[in-house]
Amino acid sequence: MTDRIRVAVVGAGRWAQVAHIPGWLRDPRAEVVALADVDEAALAAAAGSFPVPRVTADYRELLDDTGIDVVDVVTGNRPHFQISWDALSAGKHVLCEKPVHMDYRKTREAAALAAERGLRTKLGFTFRYAPAVRYAKELIDSGFVGEPFIFNGFEQNSQWIDPATPLRQFNAGADPARIAVSSIEGYGAPIIDIMHWWLGRPLTAVVGAMRNFVPERVIRDTGQMTRANIDDGDMWIAEFGGGALASIQSSYVTVGNYPGIEARIYGSEGAVIVRLVDEFGICQTIRTARKDAVEFTEAQIPERYFPPGGHSGEPWEYLFYSNLVSDFITEILDGGREPQGDFAQGALVQETINAFEASFRSRAWVSFPLGAAGADAR
Ligand SMILES: NC(=O)c1ccc[n+]([C@@H]2O[C@H](COP(=O)([O-])OP(=O)(O)OC[C@H]3O[C@@H](n4cnc5c(N)ncnc54)[C@H](O)[C@@H]3O)[C@@H](O)[C@H]2O)c1
Repeated sequence: MTDRIRVAVVGAGRWAQVAHIPGWLRDPRAEVVALADVDEAALAAAAGSFPVPRVTADYRELLDDTGIDVVDVVTGNRPHFQISWDALSAGKHVLCEKPVHMDYRKTREAAALAAERGLRTKLGFTFRYAPAVRYAKELIDSGFVGEPFIFNGFEQNSQWIDPATPLRQFNAGADPARIAVSSIEGYGAPIIDIMHWWLGRPLTAVVGAMRNFVPERVIRDTGQMTRANIDDGDMWIAEFGGGALASIQSSYVTVGNYPGIEARIYGSEGAVIVRLVDEFGICQTIRTARKDAVEFTEAQIPERYFPPGGHSGEPWEYLFYSNLVSDFITEILDGGREPQGDFAQGALVQETINAFEASFRSRAWVSFPLGAAGADAR
């Protein structure tokens, strides 16, 4: 490997263009050397916007290239696992959008393959790289909140409150009488990641419910208004070791702007509330209180949590993703550093989502970890 990380981005759609590619290009330690997309138009649009020397429709052509260190998987959800698996098998470090696989056991297999090969992995847990979230983690680790009692996590906005807004990734073959997992997996994963990361102790049990609030929607592939029995809103309670409690609410039919994250932690000494909602030109705030000064006040996020020149008025996709890829580059270059937000963490988050679903299906508390029987009972 040279002193610059050489990246191939697979999937050149919207998210690759607003977050991944600009993020890589912002860091002088990386260069994007190839783009792959099965869709000619998407590939041409991305290649026209960014200076990338090599483009291809078939990512497999890139795997033998010794001039590529990292494969960055930003396709729609279904191919994530296969592309990640192929890239790891070819000896590449992998950044993959969530979920790697809808069954956490497959994600764990990919994490094991990476460990065996001495490769680094990272999940697209965008919001753990928000400067406000990282600063909150520093406060928690330094004892600011004391012993954590309660965590509340929200990941919600009103992206699909209007039935005419086309929905993608809809499983048309699914049984319409059985509500399908949607919001909690597509939207809830990053706040579940933050819950685990901030609390830093084992999850022991979960219970909760999924709801379908908007019954019919336009589906992107067909353009037709269709019965779509999907989880467009849900609420969960989680018990953690040491007695801590957590709640998670995810939805894309709740009025509010993107990205719509709020994370609150209350402990024996203090509390921290982080809000990642694009409002009036600012994409993040952090407010803190102590037991002897109970009025929440806004805290200044230290500059070290921003990329050089970065600020809270930047587009959140660009700001948070710049931090994510920069962290991955540091991990790859400094092989000794403790990984964060990797495939093993992705498996834990996916296992939590699978446990939430199992609880709703059985209308009962579900113990954690799930174990094979619990996972199959979903
Ligand atoms: N982490 C976040 O905050 C966040 C935000 C938005 C999207 N995402 C995720 O990013 C991913 C991409 O989302 P998007 O909005 O860009 O979707 P998109 O549909 O705009 O783009 C996906 C692209 O992948 C291409 N593709 C599909 N299969 C492929 C294959 N086998 N090989 C090469 N290319 C292939 C498609 O042709 C398409 O151009 C999704 O998994 C989505 O969930 C994550």
